[in-house]
Amino acid sequence: MARLTVPDIQAKKGQEPIVALTAYDFISARLAEEAGVEMLLVGDSAAMVILGYEDTLPITMEEMVVFARAVARGSERALIVGDMPFMSYQTGPQEAIRNAGRFLKEGGCQAVKIEGGEEVAEIVAAVVRAGIPVLGHIGLTPQRASALGGYRVQGRDLESARKLLRDAESLVEAGVFALILECVPAEIARLITERIPIPTIGIGAGPHTDGQILVFHDVVGLWPRFRPRFVRTYGEIAQEIVRAIRTYAEDTRARRFPGPEESFRLSEEVLKALEV
Ligand code: KIV
Repeated sequence: MARLTVPDIQAKKGQEPIVALTAYDFISARLAEEAGVEMLLVGDSAAMVILGYEDTLPITMEEMVVFARAVARGSERALIVGDMPFMSYQTGPQEAIRNAGRFLKEGGCQAVKIEGGEEVAEIVAAVVRAGIPVLGHIGLTPQRASALGGYRVQGRDLESARKLLRDAESLVEAGVFALILECVPAEIARLITERIPIPTIGIGAGPHTDGQILVFHDVVGLWPRFRPRFVRTYGEIAQEIVRAIRTYAEDTRARRFPGPEESFRLSEEVLKALEV
């Protein structure tokens, strides 16, 4: 099965919605791909949903590359995007190119994602010039949550709405192949989607974007902490896992597990010889 390429994803603009999801390991990639997901983001949300941190800032390149490699092993068709963690690109183009390159060389990704607008456009352009496709990400950019005043909708007033439009345009100029819009009013997402020639992928950005992305754990109901308003949960997998493990514990305590069908037996002959 041929893997989807950047042009394949771009060709979907105006044709059909792009379905993207985060993945962090072999099994989440395998399951998402079996369900037909076209783009897998090895998101730095792994810091929270896999490693249990409070926010995305502590995760390192080393950790992200391990997750990316596992996703690549679990996937054959989806375009895999590695999420550049905090401080892996902000320090300048050289370090950004080196770290982005690691996602492709060691992580098995086909592209990287960089958070930020105008302020990172030069760095994005340098990474693109090095031959590495970049997915942009504007609006609520969690690596800057503190500077943005928390995890809140962006672009509600005229000034910040104009800033989002400028961000989108400068990233297109810098060469991003697609753009994530996170937590912005639906009208802003529609305006950006209409004005730029590349696909927009929304998360909390309403229905007018060229595609949608969500966090794996939110979609399947595997995240016990906060569930943002823009998330739709399609399963309650955590409850099912707890039910299965609780039943295992009950069966073990009641000596119902293991049964004959889960046990290995000695032949009568060997048993007799041992017993004399
Ligand atoms: O890391 C992440 O999960 C993201 C979202 C946009 C899906 O960046």
